[in-house]
Amino acid sequence: MNQSTFAKGLEGVVAAESEICQIDGQDGRLYYRGISIDDLAVHSSFEETAYLLLYEKLPTAAELSRFTEQMRSQRSIPSPVRTMIRDFPENGSPMELLQSVISYLSGSQEHTIQHSATCNCRNTLHQIAQIATVLATYQRFREGQPYVEPRTDLSHGANFLYMLRGEEPDEFEGRVMDTCLVLHAEHGFCASTFTARVVASTYSTCYCSISAAIGALYGFLHGGANEPALTMVEEIGSKENVAPWLDRALAEKQKIMGMGHRVYKAKDPRAVIIEKHLHDLSELKGDFHLYEILKELENQFRERMQEAGKPLYPNVDFFSGAVYSLLGIPKDLFTPIFAVARTAGWLAHVLEQRKDNRLYRPKCLYVGSQPVQYVPIDNR
Ligand code: COA
Repeated sequence: MNQSTFAKGLEGVVAAESEICQIDGQDGRLYYRGISIDDLAVHSSFEETAYLLLYEKLPTAAELSRFTEQMRSQRSIPSPVRTMIRDFPENGSPMELLQSVISYLSGSQEHTIQHSATCNCRNTLHQIAQIATVLATYQRFREGQPYVEPRTDLSHGANFLYMLRGEEPDEFEGRVMDTCLVLHAEHGFCASTFTARVVASTYSTCYCSISAAIGALYGFLHGGANEPALTMVEEIGSKENVAPWLDRALAEKQKIMGMGHRVYKAKDPRAVIIEKHLHDLSELKGDFHLYEILKELENQFRERMQEAGKPLYPNVDFFSGAVYSLLGIPKDLFTPIFAVARTAGWLAHVLEQRKDNRLYRPKCLYVGSQPVQYVPIDNR
């Protein structure tokens, strides 16, 4: 093997061509199929974004209406799935539950192992539709509350909050939740998406792709620093404590959660949008506590990193945990919510992989022992 092609973690390696997501890390811009995330956040919905990702174009009004109806009609989860959620071992994480449920759902729909380039992923929208219901139901059962049947007159985001709470959220809260799903729906060749594509490249089923991707997302290097970012803010406790807390954290060489990004060398465009939502949500709730600490932390951290010659900016996770917290969502659901949104992107990548498939089969650079004599057990 030519050593020059070795790149640890495949860093810098172009593994495939893709038309789905463009990231301009230098200027902090993000596009789904050429449409700016800024426009999608203001004008679109999660359902329209899912259509855009899966069907490679924005829908007409009639197409969106059909697609929305199809997704919403599949939100409800069958009784055996509810039983499975109720019986899921207490020590299992919600991410592991989502993985298991996706595998379980594969038995409820007709589908085939894909031997050809044709794939029925677009007909299996229930994966995107139901994963939100599964998560909300998990939380309800954990609180000793009954299952809430999903509604078909609410957006994906608003319905998720409705199912969690058992009562309809404020219209703005529903919009914020839906926008968060739009912002997390896709982000190029991250570890989970690559995982989904590797599985798809073997002509396995889309269910196997999605459950494998959820597994990859679970790891803390990927699935979101939003939970520890919120824990960090809670630990800081007040705006006044930011400076001494930061002094100590940097002296101890701690990583500040929600700061920095491998690709973005500017403020993550999703962070810009979520920050605005956090501000407006804080206003709605009359509670600026988290917002003020985060802004103070952002300002002081950026100033110090700039002085140190390491310009670093907030990523998507910096403000999102605070938004979810104000929406009353517990911390351990933050990464699963990421999965709820990203299912749309994963499926789009599975479809794209199948269109022009080549089995992923990289090599490794062998650095182990050269051939040696086998030593019988009594002689070792
Ligand atoms: N807090 C403090 N210092 C940070 C930092 C952070 N969040 N992120 C990067 N740095 C520093 C590194 O220590 C390094 O300093 P050095 O050159 O003196 O060693 C320098 O900035 C470059 O960082 P590096 O780790 O090489 O960047 P990366 O591209 O490999 O890492 C992340 C990107 C996201 C893994 C990293 O920024 C990080 O761990 N952030 C916190 C976790 C997080 O928010 N994850 C969610 C990502 S969406």
